[in-house]
Amino acid sequence: MNDSALSRFLTRFQASLDDGSFVKLTLGRPAAPASPLRKLRIRPVTLHGEALCNVVSRFATRDETKNHPFPDALRLVREQLGPEFLSAHLFTTRETVQLELGDRPRLRILQQANAPAPQAHDRDRSRWVDAAAPYLRALEVTDARGKVRERMGDKFRQIERYIDLLASACRESTLAGSDKPLTLCDMGSGKGYLTFAAYDYFQRVEHRAASVTGVEAREDLASLCNRVAGECDFEGLRFVCSPIAEYPLPPLDILVALHACNTATDDALFAGMRAGAQILLAAPCCHKEARPQVDQQSHTSPAGPLADVLRHGLFAERHAEMATDALRALLLEREGYRVRVTEFVAAEHTAKNVMLIATRRESPLSAEGRADLDRRIAQLKAFYGIEHQRLEQLLLDRRELERAPAAADTLPPI
Ligand SMILES: C[S@@+](CC[C@H](N)C(=O)[O-])C[C@H]1O[C@@H](n2cnc3c(N)ncnc32)[C@H](O)[C@@H]1O
Repeated sequence: MNDSALSRFLTRFQASLDDGSFVKLTLGRPAAPASPLRKLRIRPVTLHGEALCNVVSRFATRDETKNHPFPDALRLVREQLGPEFLSAHLFTTRETVQLELGDRPRLRILQQANAPAPQAHDRDRSRWVDAAAPYLRALEVTDARGKVRERMGDKFRQIERYIDLLASACRESTLAGSDKPLTLCDMGSGKGYLTFAAYDYFQRVEHRAASVTGVEAREDLASLCNRVAGECDFEGLRFVCSPIAEYPLPPLDILVALHACNTATDDALFAGMRAGAQILLAAPCCHKEARPQVDQQSHTSPAGPLADVLRHGLFAERHAEMATDALRALLLEREGYRVRVTEFVAAEHTAKNVMLIATRRESPLSAEGRADLDRRIAQLKAFYGIEHQRLEQLLLDRRELERAPAAADTLPPI
């Protein structure tokens, strides 16, 4: 093997990581033609503020995605080049470098600049939702000239914020860096503003094939959305008229439930977990389930100094909302998701402004981790006097079923 070609290649790769010019690296031509590992593709990603390499290992029938710190990615490439792969292409913002190993190793350097890797900070976010898009006109968010209608300003800002949150959740998940078509289901899709925007974002901005389904109880809304999807030639977008709890959700990548009323949010989150979603986005509303339970608790056993908070209906309402969403977050964590709670739209635009963003962890939680979460869930429920929470109940019922030996084989895993 020509060490100098290989070491010059690795030096250039390391330099591109160091100076931020790295765009992409692919390793191909397996040394053993029958090797099940066909290709490696590496891209820079930023997760929780840390710069990492997203490595996709492409096997004949599946992809595996892992994120590595830069030194580990460099080590991985050094180990793989030669023993596993005989060809590599490095793309940086300055050049394209090609390495061929084997009998006559060689390094070719092309002065061919490449567009920077799509990272959060260097993307033109203003293009993520295009006000001139025909679907926005058809849904009456914009007028014939592509201007946002006066009364739809809040809705447009909400769509922009949603796409922002969806895009960063995707980047922080195992879905980043893969070319596989995405599947997304939007439960309680309403007039479809956000469903259309998600589809358009994946197609137009990410250039990624996507199959997007809106599930909506109202027939008139599902029909309207299907008509508009047809007019816009959005072939991978469809709307189904069904109650959330009855929709047979196939395996999917992303579950969205925005302002699905009351416990419909729980039904949607549960369905998403069961379908193996990597990302769950929920903006809950109408928290009717917890409120009477919180009221009951404040009348029968007032919660210390909080008794003077909870005796006011408005404050009791807010506490019931927060307690419900905090419980949902804990339950999602217990099922192996990382959860972030953020503001969806500024509170002055709507009271329904909380979004739960859950991304599935790469490795499952330990038994101690789950026990700790069980303890915290029980504590929070006891404090607010919440005896029944629908998502918890669905998960408990599910665990019961899993324990029944006859059912264990037929249930898809959460
Ligand atoms: C407030 S709208 C929100 C629409 C959309 N997600 C948005 O944020 O723009 C809630 C929608 O969810 C639908 N919905 C509520 N509960 C549902 C259920 N259990 N099954 C299906 N759809 C439901 C309603 O018909 C309504 O269109």
